[in-house]
Amino acid sequence: MQLTGVETHVLADADAVAAEAARLILEAGADAITARGAFRLVLAGGSTPLAAYRLLAQAQAHWSRWHLYHGDERCLPPDAPERNSRAADEAWLAQIPIPRQQVHVIPAEQGAEAASAAYEPVVAEAVPFDLVLLGMGEDGHTASLFPGHEVCPGPLVMPVHDAPKPPPNRVSLTPSALCRSRRMLVLATGTGKQAAVARWQAGEGLPVARVAVGGNALVLLDRAAAPTHSDAR
Ligand code: 6PG
Repeated sequence: MQLTGVETHVLADADAVAAEAARLILEAGADAITARGAFRLVLAGGSTPLAAYRLLAQAQAHWSRWHLYHGDERCLPPDAPERNSRAADEAWLAQIPIPRQQVHVIPAEQGAEAASAAYEPVVAEAVPFDLVLLGMGEDGHTASLFPGHEVCPGPLVMPVHDAPKPPPNRVSLTPSALCRSRRMLVLATGTGKQAAVARWQAGEGLPVARVAVGGNALVLLDRAAAPTHSDAR
């Protein structure tokens, strides 16, 4: 299925999406390490990727060659349960022997502006990424790029305020940074995402549509998130 020019696979359920996402992430990691000696992966926040992260916690890989970044972070204390970095640690990263200096956490506890400034050189040094993993909100946002919010064209990292999804203050990679990747994988599961997927398919300029452009992106949906006429593959 094509979603406005983006390859889309509709899988049976969220577990199938998690398994395929984990498989594709491991494949991209092996390919990058073979080709360039390292794998630079941007993690998605939210709850959708956590099932894939839990599968990756049980996988074997050359973790010492993996360099992990976050696509966005919430301006909360590092140990807050709602932090994307804490969720990724608990589901995956605390269980694998990845050098902690290769897990590049956004210091969002410093506040949106200070954290964006601190993370900008980290991203500048990392791009192009090998794989960017993204989720999608029910309004078509991705990372912390929300509809109706102005996006700064120049920076790679930007502060976000008044986010409609709590907490209001966040830090996000910009489309400029997210698009500088060899591959991109967007995950959306559950009936709550179906309307946004349909709007995307209808060509609306949603934040996720502005980021997942070109031939390097793949969208993984479960049946519940796919517009009703879609067939699982
Ligand atoms: C965040 C995420 C956000 C998320 C979507 C989907 O910090 O909230 O970066 O972009 O990916 O809101 O969230 P769920 O996967 O929980 O539905």
